[in-house]
Amino acid sequence: MKTIKDLNIDNKKVIIRCDFNVPIKEGEIVDDTRIIGALPTIQYCIDHGCKIILMSHLGRVKEEADLAKNNIAPVAKRLSEVLGRDILFCNKTRGEELEAMVNSLGSGDILLMQNTRYEDLDGKKESSNDEELGKYWASLGEVFINDAFGTIHRAHASNVGIATYLESGVGFLIEKELNALSSLENPERPFVVILGGAKVADKIGVIENLVTKADKILIGGGMAFTFLKAKGVEIGKSLLDEENIDFCKKVLAEYPDKIVLPVDFAVTNEYTNDEDYRLKDVNEIAADEMGLDIGDITTLTF
Ligand code: 3PG
Repeated sequence: MKTIKDLNIDNKKVIIRCDFNVPIKEGEIVDDTRIIGALPTIQYCIDHGCKIILMSHLGRVKEEADLAKNNIAPVAKRLSEVLGRDILFCNKTRGEELEAMVNSLGSGDILLMQNTRYEDLDGKKESSNDEELGKYWASLGEVFINDAFGTIHRAHASNVGIATYLESGVGFLIEKELNALSSLENPERPFVVILGGAKVADKIGVIENLVTKADKILIGGGMAFTFLKAKGVEIGKSLLDEENIDFCKKVLAEYPDKIVLPVDFAVTNEYTNDEDYRLKDVNEIAADEMGLDIGDITTLTF
């Protein structure tokens, strides 16, 4: 695997695939961790005189109404603030306007392209790794750097597609994450894994792999409810990944002493900031309630 340091990027047009899939409320970014995480690679490209083209997906685009909701423009504004320099923004994901903006970039200039998933509106071109789209995006640059760690489990036009046609390497964020993962080969013990997130489906490979290595796996986040449901617990309106209940049952049956589930939750009736939450025992979630975070006892236990 090549990293950005193995490639000659000096003064070249470099496409950096970032994961700017950040929470945005009323046009404001609520958590910029992923933007900050991308800065070392961007800065390295600035220092090497590159003409920088940034690409990222944001949310899911299935219908026309999803376009406005998932406009990535606020990321350009935040990037500009944290880098202290202008960021050009192109509202298009292809065409003359985008090409003209790319061709006018000077050394150290940065252009953020509109959400790559805008291309999903017309036949899921980004998410199905449409060959023509990957080739087209690749034609905009000379080198491709993938630094979107949160997206490397996807085979999309903006990562696998572009990498098929351009000299490629990974950025500092992915390199850092891969180095951290390499310690899994021979971990110090006790080795405890904390897993969260909404989607069990995306974590099946991770769970199957880590459950054989870890001493304990602490399950939090939205995923916890699918595991609890698999145990027969009433989870009310909490997030459920119905298709993977059987997988959770299997893991719980095979590794009963390794999987640690929450014993209490912060619950509300709606997913909103306007309502106060209550702490409840896992066995007391009512049919019209949803758990939104682990409770105090679970926090202490974990
Ligand atoms: C994430 O936030 O999990 C990544 O950005 C991937 O997003 P996705 O699940 O919409 O592909």
